Amino acid sequence: MFSSNLSNFAEGVDTAFIVIFSIILFFLVGLTTVLIIFIFRYRESKNPVATQIHGNNTLEVIWTVIPLILVMAMFYFGWVSWKPMNENPPEDAMHIQTDARMWKWTFRYDNGQRLDTLIVPVGKAVALDMKAADVIHSLYIPAFRLKKDIVPGTPRTAWFIANSPGIYDLFCTEYCGLEHSSMITAVKVLTQEDFDAWYSQAGTTVAEASEGENAPTPAALGKQIIQQLGCNACHSTDGTKIVGPSYLGIYGHEVTVETDGSERTLIVDDEYIRRSILDPNADIVKGFNKGLMLSYKDQVSDEEIDLIIAYIKSLQ
Ligand code: CUA
Repeated sequence: MFSSNLSNFAEGVDTAFIVIFSIILFFLVGLTTVLIIFIFRYRESKNPVATQIHGNNTLEVIWTVIPLILVMAMFYFGWVSWKPMNENPPEDAMHIQTDARMWKWTFRYDNGQRLDTLIVPVGKAVALDMKAADVIHSLYIPAFRLKKDIVPGTPRTAWFIANSPGIYDLFCTEYCGLEHSSMITAVKVLTQEDFDAWYSQAGTTVAEASEGENAPTPAALGKQIIQQLGCNACHSTDGTKIVGPSYLGIYGHEVTVETDGSERTLIVDDEYIRRSILDPNADIVKGFNKGLMLSYKDQVSDEEIDLIIAYIKSLQ
């Protein structure tokens, strides 16, 4: 009736929901009706002397057994819909590395592609091997009825089979700090044919993309990398102060930073930007907080850092 069928789990979850909701609705209406009838029927003017009732075994059994059956029914439907989610993904599932960090999702494919949007083929099992870098996040794809928390230090896998091509919301549903609400992105479900086409041409590395005639400029590639890594969740490019300093006009300019507890002034250059990416807490710009950014050591190559520097340089 209300049931959607956008993933292999949707029907089971919706059935559990409808069963539980129907039981609740039945009792809400039933109890409210009885309450109203009793208020009128047993009002003081009609029933001046209260009737004393001393136990009734039959009634006691009835109001124990019926709720037990109802609660067990709720448990049963909840259990059968949850159990397959918690099982290991099928052998032939396509694995995608899923990184959650304040405040961005990154999806990494076996061909080296790295995106902030999840792209998957329809009708195929997809396993998201999830890791949280800093705090607890929670992956939620409402259309697929899929939700799983990710605790730092405890990698987990969530899997699903999407049933219908389209674009669906994917977001973090565990409050994880100031910009929690910006951890929203999408799942794009493509037909197998479209997916294969995308996957085969998306495998080009940054180095390959920067060769040839129509190659984008290093700054344009740097911008892409910044978006993929989610740097823009905390660093604006228009001078707005978010969680970290804005990139606008910082290159070549002086900043006051705190290093090992003492203040010093330095010029933003290649070396400083590189250090800020690999060891973000070494120098903290005055007016900003320490400990909010973790190292991107395993997420970004030297070559990519050069492109990021080119982009920041271009923002004058
Ligand atoms: Cu991540 Cu909320």
